[in-house]
This record gives sequence, C-alpha cells and structure tokens, in this order.
Amino acid sequence: MAEVTIKVNGAPVSRDVPDAMLLVEFLREELRLTGTHVGCDTSQCGACVVHLDGRAVKSCTTLAAQAYGAEVTTIEGLAAGEELHPMQRAFHENHGLQCGFCTPGMIMTGIDMVRRYRAAGQELDEAAIRHELEGNLCRCTGYHNIVKSIRQAAGEM
Ligand code: FES
Ligand code: FES
Repeated sequence: MAEVTIKVNGAPVSRDVPDAMLLVEFLREELRLTGTHVGCDTSQCGACVVHLDGRAVKSCTTLAAQAYGAEVTTIEGLAAGEELHPMQRAFHENHGLQCGFCTPGMIMTGIDMVRRYRAAGQELDEAAIRHELEGNLCRCTGYHNIVKSIRQAAGEM
C-alpha cells in the first residue's frame, strides 16, 4: 500500500491505496470525481487528462503515488462557483462537443497549451492547436469546433 496525500481542486486528501493504483482510478473511484474519463487502455485518447502541478498529464499513465505532495486539478475544479472557466465557456459557445466523452480531456489539454504558449511568447494558431491535440481523440466532432473553442478561450484567459 502507498499513502497518497495530495491536493485535489484545492482540497487536501489523504488515502492509503494499492501501490499500482492509477491516478485516474484514485480520482474516479476513491474521490468519485468522475468527470475525468477513461477512453482507452493504450494511453492514446486523452480523455483522462488532468493537471498535475499545473501541467497536463494523462492520469491513466500516472500512478496515484507519483502525485504525492502535488496539486491536481480536474474538470470539476475549473469553474468558480456558477462561473465557467473561459475554456469551458468557449466549448459551450462554439459547440465544441457532441457526446462530450472526450471533452474534459480536451478542455484540460486546451488550458495547458494556452498557458504554455503564452509563457513561451509563442502564437497559438490553428496549426499549433491541431498539433497540440495529437494526444486527444474525439470520435464525434471532426475537431473543427474544438479548435475554434480553444482559439476563442486563448483570447479570454
Ligand atoms: S484513458 Fe488515458 S489516454 Fe485514454
Ligand atoms: S464529443 Fe464525442 S468523443 Fe468527442
């Protein structure tokens, strides 16, 4: 067993869990934060993306124990009360989703790319967004409105 003490969406949590428990299992099964999805078992779909100390990671390939001492943000932690995060609002306004299964991962990845490009002083144009979305699969939308959503949010974050 491993002790996992982390902050999730600003709240400290501590649990003893099996050594091999994945971060996504910790979030979904221990904390019932089911907005983080599991869409594959090959680390390809990105439905499980969360932020670990502010950086996007695939929580299906991260052990819960590896997150010891870290701050984790999930899709549930983005809104400020009733007010959606600009990335959530942009997906809503641009119809950046259909079934919504990939959406939490797309939004977490989108926020991460906007922050990284801004910090590097680089332009996050359409080509860059499409390149950055390589690790996130959507079976429904054809990506057009997802890209549009991220572009809008980049101007509002
Ligand atoms: S569930 Fe993590 S990449 Fe698919
Ligand atoms: S909206 Fe259905 S998988 Fe992306």
